[in-house]
Amino acid sequence: MSLSFSYFAQNFNKKMEIFKEIEPLKKRLQELRSKGQTIGFVATMGALHQGHISLVERASQENDIVVVSIFVNPTQFNNKEDLEKYPRDLDADYSLLANNECDIVFSPSVEEIYPIPDTRQFELGSVSEVMEGKYRPGHFNGVCQIVSKLFAIINPNKAYFGQKDYQQIAVIRAMARKYMPEFLGEIISCPIKREADGLALSSRNVHLSPEQRQSALLISKTLFKAKEMSDNGENQKSIVSFIKKNISSDANLCLEYVEIVDKNTLLPITTTLKNKAVICITVYDGKTRLIDNILL
Ligand code: PAJ
Repeated sequence: MSLSFSYFAQNFNKKMEIFKEIEPLKKRLQELRSKGQTIGFVATMGALHQGHISLVERASQENDIVVVSIFVNPTQFNNKEDLEKYPRDLDADYSLLANNECDIVFSPSVEEIYPIPDTRQFELGSVSEVMEGKYRPGHFNGVCQIVSKLFAIINPNKAYFGQKDYQQIAVIRAMARKYMPEFLGEIISCPIKREADGLALSSRNVHLSPEQRQSALLISKTLFKAKEMSDNGENQKSIVSFIKKNISSDANLCLEYVEIVDKNTLLPITTTLKNKAVICITVYDGKTRLIDNILL
């Protein structure tokens, strides 16, 4: 029995196809490609929000067909509790995608993706070792495992990723360059989607209590102010100490790291900041780990 089916959007008279298995999906994509259709791809772990939808919209503007994957990838979680707690709501995700510009969803099981354990090690040097790489050992290796599999299955013309996970894009680019020379798809980086008050949209925001949600606001506010300081010529040291002081002023927040790094190499920056650097920050708000960044 094939585990593929169609989903009819409630509000739109549009059919969205859902695939649970690799082979039928590959066959369908081959069919579309042979008709000359271009394929845009958005990889997600579900619990979809308007940040994900902004990638879907961009993909739809630039391609004939939009494929979205929904897969909570166990190999990228370095913390078992985080994996168990990760929000999942496939029905809500299907409905949101069907009512936006998605044509095909790929939502496989763990067994479909990892019939045998994936033991591949991706050696990418500093880009995967600093910041998130340092604080979440194994995380980017898991991201590379899943994204390389998804790229091989879907083989998109263009793949869209959010700058919300700034380092992730750099890692995926490095992975594709080194380990998938046959992959010709373009990797496209899209701006961070924020709430009206500045908070970066994230699937993890659902874990925040109203009070923690209020505290979380301080993260983007601090980054916006830091950018202003940089625009006014303040040096790196005073910007970093301003950020540390500001975040520590809220009892719910605990700074894991803040770094100002070269926007391409992600190494600590030594020259002037403007147009060259990005501030990356990770903060625990209660038990919820939030990441954000801003280009200078
Ligand atoms: P996930 O956190 O679901 O994010 C899927 C994509 O949406 C990523 O490219 C992410 O950067 C983007 N995204 C999330 N929040 C965003 C926001 N507020 N604005 C713009 N884009 C946003 O990132 C992952 O999943 C996984 O690591 C994945 C790449 C799917 C591999 O498992």
